[in-house]
Amino acid sequence: MHAMVYHRYGGPDVVHLAELPKPLPRDNEVLIRIHATTVSSADWRARTLDLPGGFGFMGRPVFGFFGPRQPILGGELAGVIEAVGRSVTRFSVGDQVFAFAGGKFGCHAEYRTLPEDGLITRKPANLSFEEAAALSFGGTTALSFLRDKAGIRAGDKVLVIGASGSVGAAAVQLAKHFGAEVTGVCSTANLKLVRSLGADRVIDYTSEDFARSGDSWDIVLNCNGAVSFAEVEASLRPGGRLVLVLGSFAQAVGLERPRKGSEKRLMSSIAQVTVEDMQFLAQLAGSGALKPVIDRVYPLADAAEAHAYVATGRKRGNVVLAVGSRPD
Ligand SMILES: NC(=O)c1ccc[n+]([C@@H]2O[C@H](COP(=O)([O-])OP(=O)(O)OC[C@H]3O[C@@H](n4cnc5c(N)ncnc54)[C@H](OP(=O)(O)O)[C@@H]3O)[C@@H](O)[C@H]2O)c1
Repeated sequence: MHAMVYHRYGGPDVVHLAELPKPLPRDNEVLIRIHATTVSSADWRARTLDLPGGFGFMGRPVFGFFGPRQPILGGELAGVIEAVGRSVTRFSVGDQVFAFAGGKFGCHAEYRTLPEDGLITRKPANLSFEEAAALSFGGTTALSFLRDKAGIRAGDKVLVIGASGSVGAAAVQLAKHFGAEVTGVCSTANLKLVRSLGADRVIDYTSEDFARSGDSWDIVLNCNGAVSFAEVEASLRPGGRLVLVLGSFAQAVGLERPRKGSEKRLMSSIAQVTVEDMQFLAQLAGSGALKPVIDRVYPLADAAEAHAYVATGRKRGNVVLAVGSRPD
């Protein structure tokens, strides 16, 4: 099969096309013929070892000391089940699915095997393969942070910083779905996009600082740029939470925290994902309440070009790789 691989960390040009054996599903696995996958911020981090402030020491232990342990990047996919292992009962050949391999990557290829009890869900019929491939990464992250960590409730006021990225675009839509009043922070070029996702208000960070707007929120979800608790504290309502999808090592280990006795909280961690989350996103996407934002689509063979674009930090929503020819 064709796959895009990398064997050393570095710029986009470390990614190149290779011919690899087609994987065979184990008894409990399905073999998915991939029709679309994405180049996400996680792929960029795994390729460059550019990790958030203070996390740099974890790069090689996590991704491989002497070079990438997993040579094929790509954490999410959409495709069709081509074969199933002997004990598989949940999926059949021909099922159209989307799946999240997360930090195990391996989706920038024509095929991927995954355990049937992994993060695989049937593709909503109204979504293209490109759209379905772009549902998992941003969607599951936003869901994990907004619902499970921040405990979002109807009527909450939510500020999404980085509202035009993969996680932020999903967060704006999910927060609206949960009944929140949403403000999105983005640059001038993305104001219209973020409004179209349902944001009640948008703040252009090139001309306005949300922290000086005089407004306050129950949840401030930071999906981009470094934000300290001190900068945000006055913008949190009583009981408010600063929730860091992107945070520093000091924030993650509690070196930076609210004053003792403060009823405001700082939360920084890693997204946790279950197959029920995937099904929830599929249901929302099926009903039209969640629409993956797609910026650009590249052929698989042009993955290095896609990486270069993602590395600009300016992508809007998701960058998709189209793999092979797709059924209608
Ligand atoms: N903790 C976790 O488990 C977890 C999970 C997933 C992702 N992450 C992290 O979350 C971050 C966001 O991921 P992503 O995939 O959504 O990123 P992304 O799609 O690459 O974000 C790109 C967007 O960020 C915006 N942006 C850049 N600088 C900004 C700033 N200073 N303020 C506001 N917006 C800014 C850009 O819009 P403009 O051009 O308008 O600036 C662009 O639309 C990444 O750092 C990723 O590593 C963490």
